[in-house]
Amino acid sequence: MNIYFFEKIIYFLDKKFGFFKLFLPLFLRKFVWNKIETFLVNHYADRKFLKSLLERLPKDCSNILWVGCRRYNKSEFQILLNNDKKVVVIDIDPYVERFALNLDFYSMDVSKLSQDWTKKFDLIVMNGVFGDGLNDANIQKQAISEMKRCITNSGFILIGLNGKGHPCFSASAFEALNDMNSVRLAKIEEANHFYYILK
Ligand SMILES: C[S@@+](CC[C@H](N)C(=O)[O-])C[C@H]1O[C@@H](n2cnc3c(N)ncnc32)[C@H](O)[C@@H]1O
Repeated sequence: MNIYFFEKIIYFLDKKFGFFKLFLPLFLRKFVWNKIETFLVNHYADRKFLKSLLERLPKDCSNILWVGCRRYNKSEFQILLNNDKKVVVIDIDPYVERFALNLDFYSMDVSKLSQDWTKKFDLIVMNGVFGDGLNDANIQKQAISEMKRCITNSGFILIGLNGKGHPCFSASAFEALNDMNSVRLAKIEEANHFYYILK
C-alpha cells in the first residue's frame, strides 16, 4: 500500500458523497483536512518533481502566473519567493486566497484572463486544474489559448495532468495538448502524473 492508495479513498469519498465540501464543518476542513491533504501531497513524486523544477528556473524567468491554489502550494510559493520571482496567483475560488501567502491574488477564471496580462508572464504553471474543476473540453481549449496570450515571446506554460485511472483524469485535456504541439516534459510513473510544456 502506498500513499496514492489514500488519495484514491479520499477522492472516492469526495466524489461519491461530496463529503468534504458539504458535510465537513469549516473548522475541520481548516485544521484537519487541509493539513492531511498538505501532508499527503508533499510526499507525491510529481510534487517533488515540480519543486525541483521551480528551484532550477533560469534567472530571467521572473514573472510567474500560478493557476489554482491550495494550502499545499505554500511550500512551492516559498521556493519561488526565495528565488526572487514575482508571482501572481489566480483561482476561481476566492476562499483560497488565504493560502497564497502575501502574493498578488485574483479570483479569476483561467479561461478569461485579464486583458492587461497580454504577453506579461515568463512562465504560467497550471497543475491539476484540468480534470479537477475545469473539465469541459471547449473551456479547456479556451484556457490554453488565454494562457498563450499571456506569455511573453520567450515564455512557456507548464501544465500538469493526472493520468488515466486517476479520479481527476481528463481525456479531453490530453487531446487538447496533443493538438497544440505541446512537449511532454515528464511522465511520473509512480504518481500517474504528466507534465507538458506549451509555448
Ligand atoms: C487540485 S487544485 C490544484 C491546485 C494547484 N494548482 C496544484 O498545484 O495542484 C484545483 C484548483 O483549481 C481551481 N480551479 C478550477 N477551475 C478553475 C478555473 N476555471 N480557473 C481558475 N481556477 C480553477 C480550483 O478552485 C482548485 O483550487
